Amino acid sequence: MAGYPTGVAYPATHQPRIAPAHLAAVAWLAGAGHPAIDRPYRFCELGSGTGFTTNLLAAANPFAEFHAVDFNPAHVAEGRRLAEAGALPNVRHHALDFAAARAALPDLDFVALHGVWTWVDDAARRDVLAFLAERLRPGGLVYVSYTARPGMDGVAALRGAMAAAGLLADDRPPPERLARLAGWLARLRAAQPEFAEGDPTLAAYVEALPAMDEAGALHDLLAPDWRAEFHGSVRAAMATAGLDWVGDADLAMNLPGAGLPPAQAALLAAGGGEAVKDLLLRRAFRRDVYRRPGPAAATPLRWFRKDGGAGEPTAEVVAAGGAVPLVAAPSPPAGLPRLSPFNRTTLELGIGREDARIVAGTTIGGGVVLDRTTAYLLSAVAAAGPGGGARMMACRLAAEGRGISAGGRTVTDPAGLEHLIAPRIAQFEATDLPRLRRLGAVA
Ligand SMILES: C[S@@+](CC[C@H](N)C(=O)[O-])C[C@H]1O[C@@H](n2cnc3c(N)ncnc32)[C@H](O)[C@@H]1O
Repeated sequence: MAGYPTGVAYPATHQPRIAPAHLAAVAWLAGAGHPAIDRPYRFCELGSGTGFTTNLLAAANPFAEFHAVDFNPAHVAEGRRLAEAGALPNVRHHALDFAAARAALPDLDFVALHGVWTWVDDAARRDVLAFLAERLRPGGLVYVSYTARPGMDGVAALRGAMAAAGLLADDRPPPERLARLAGWLARLRAAQPEFAEGDPTLAAYVEALPAMDEAGALHDLLAPDWRAEFHGSVRAAMATAGLDWVGDADLAMNLPGAGLPPAQAALLAAGGGEAVKDLLLRRAFRRDVYRRPGPAAATPLRWFRKDGGAGEPTAEVVAAGGAVPLVAAPSPPAGLPRLSPFNRTTLELGIGREDARIVAGTTIGGGVVLDRTTAYLLSAVAAAGPGGGARMMACRLAAEGRGISAGGRTVTDPAGLEHLIAPRIAQFEATDLPRLRRLGAVA
């Protein structure tokens, strides 16, 4: 059977939970050590796709060194293009498989694999484990995500049936494969309309599959080695590389009770750990953090508190996203807002289904997600200089043929647009801009 698909490129994604600052927060919640995140360290993403997240992290942590590894040359070329456009001297994109990367890369403090473990074959998994065993420094952290059992058991059964029906391992062109799959699913639903009842994950998959785009389908359920796994078996695999489980990258899962109703939380407290949690929650996807025993950062984390408060936050505040680790002090605002070359570039890139704009925040060492309007306002204010933001944004909207609805009509002419945009620019400068400066997205 063919291996991991390389013929169709995977779309760029933003994975905020692989950021070293986020991994440090997971370790902090677990009371475990982590490498320092406010001074030089080395990070590697294995199976980085187009490398968007690693590039973003390099921009957000300019004092640290970043590596992205992927064996698809088209992915690596895209990662290098963005690194060049963003003028990032501290990132390298390697067109290597995991085995070759083990010999080529230096020792590392953080390694992340998102969307990889579930989809690669046994040989690639062994290569990943050998990489981690050899390249991760003592005290280093690893992020690994995967489709989880028992939450994915229904989907695994569906996939097993599709494989047995000869729908997965075939050499037809992808559009034909997808059409056959959609046809078979339609027959299945017609023959047994309730087959996904009681399993919301399976029901959602059955709904989504026929509409999935080619790249999504080929890299996901149609990848030949796709499988779902129990936390315990991934944990056992990581133990062979000398790694201990630290916690869950979905922060709230680390709080006692994990948000479960009282009777379930009490059952969980009585024992059984992640296996009981997964049985109760039936999550389809897990993101776990592991650690190689060893030295930890000597100084405690500093925090960026969204409420503006000082001091160490509570675990509940961190788990709710109300405070994130601080990696660098914000520079004092000086005159006009300035965007880094990376942020100027990514303000124009729509990432993900909502077409979000994601810029690097150097204070928090990670991404800052903006909606399209905020991205336009920021671009205009940064490019236009004092007082010129409204005119610049109006000209851009008019040139792109976009309008703004006001008083029951759509305004599209530059003068009318400028009139409507001026108060929004003023509001942006008073509220969003200071916040973006505090996050280190704008200097
Ligand atoms: C589903 S994509 C995930 C990409 C990225 N981490 C993300 O979350 O957007 C998996 C990636 O792993 C890469 N990959 C799979 N097997 C590999 C191997 N043996 N060596 C290097 N890269 C591999 C693929 O080319 C693909 O880009």
